[in-house]
Amino acid sequence: MTSNAPRFSRIAGTGSVLPPRRLSNDDLVRQLAARGIETSDAWIVERTGIRARHFVDDGVNASDLAAQAARQAMEAAGVQPTQIDLVIVATSTPDMVFPSVACLVQRKLGIHNGAAFDVQAVCSGFVYGLSIADAMIRAGSATRALVIGAEVFSRILDFNDRTTCVLFGDGAGAVVLEAADTPGIVASELHADGRHADILCTPGTVSGGQVVGSPLLTMDGQAVFKLAVGVLADVAHSVLAKAGRTEADIDWLIPHQANIRIMQSTAKRLKLAADKVIVTVDQHGNTSAASVPLALDAGVRDGRIRRGDTLMLEGVGGGFTWGAVLVDF
Ligand code: UT7
Repeated sequence: MTSNAPRFSRIAGTGSVLPPRRLSNDDLVRQLAARGIETSDAWIVERTGIRARHFVDDGVNASDLAAQAARQAMEAAGVQPTQIDLVIVATSTPDMVFPSVACLVQRKLGIHNGAAFDVQAVCSGFVYGLSIADAMIRAGSATRALVIGAEVFSRILDFNDRTTCVLFGDGAGAVVLEAADTPGIVASELHADGRHADILCTPGTVSGGQVVGSPLLTMDGQAVFKLAVGVLADVAHSVLAKAGRTEADIDWLIPHQANIRIMQSTAKRLKLAADKVIVTVDQHGNTSAASVPLALDAGVRDGRIRRGDTLMLEGVGGGFTWGAVLVDF
């Protein structure tokens, strides 16, 4: 970085982790049948594209997954923990009420400098975190950030509700975002509309030493589906316009991995071929805030995403929240 040059941020490295315990649809179908809950591999694949998901074992928390993904991202970037001065963790399934997962990650990685905090924007959390880190780096309040999405959604699933428990999985993904002379993060946009807070929520809270309200996820799937399909294409177009780019400039679409039908519909509205979309929902399920960085890292590690490619990252989920980040990788 030269001293008076405009300051931007770029992704210096990516990492991710999935818990070793993998459940195929048939594994889950068997477990649910033992509870008297009926579902099938055929229904799950047809309606969502999901074939498998990973669940953590007892005692493994979001901060454990987050720290592992972060270590990989730092290794890929050739960066030491002492060089990190900002940790942002996007999560809806933190280890505890407080301190933040970001502070627990700091402790696990031996990072003692700069700010650390969690972002709560459910499945849009990573896109929110990336946009915030970019703004902080451009403003000069940080130089090298870890931006992590980490979730243990298996902890908040109602395994008596077949409409939700087949959809989600656990995992974490991370990037190192560092100051640069050229962007990196080209443009981003974040949105929320709290009028839709009830269609996807985990309403329980802790009060007077007890859990008050349900601590399990509930969702009006069709309402979420309809909103998601509309906003994902709109926000991508808006970010492209902001950047002075067009749909033809996108090498890879990396949308939140909730449902293959939502992803295909978004790609169609952006006039992108299906093979321009990084898809991991089939193997990971919906890992909420972890899904975008997990998909990004999968594409980088299998060689599809290369340096110089232009990426459209998109999140959508509870809140209702949504957003997109255009990246020159
Ligand atoms: O991460 C945040 C973003 N989340 C999302 O983007 C999720 C968005 N929503 C969706 O992906 C879809 O709405 C779902 C996958 C959740 C549901 O798909 P759908 O095509 O909207 O199905 P539906 O809710 O209309 O249900 C159709 C039928 C119902 O039966 P009837 O009423 O037609 O007899 C459900 O009871 O499928 C039934 N059903 C199931 N059957 C077998 C619901 N869940 C299951 C199941 N197995 N697991």
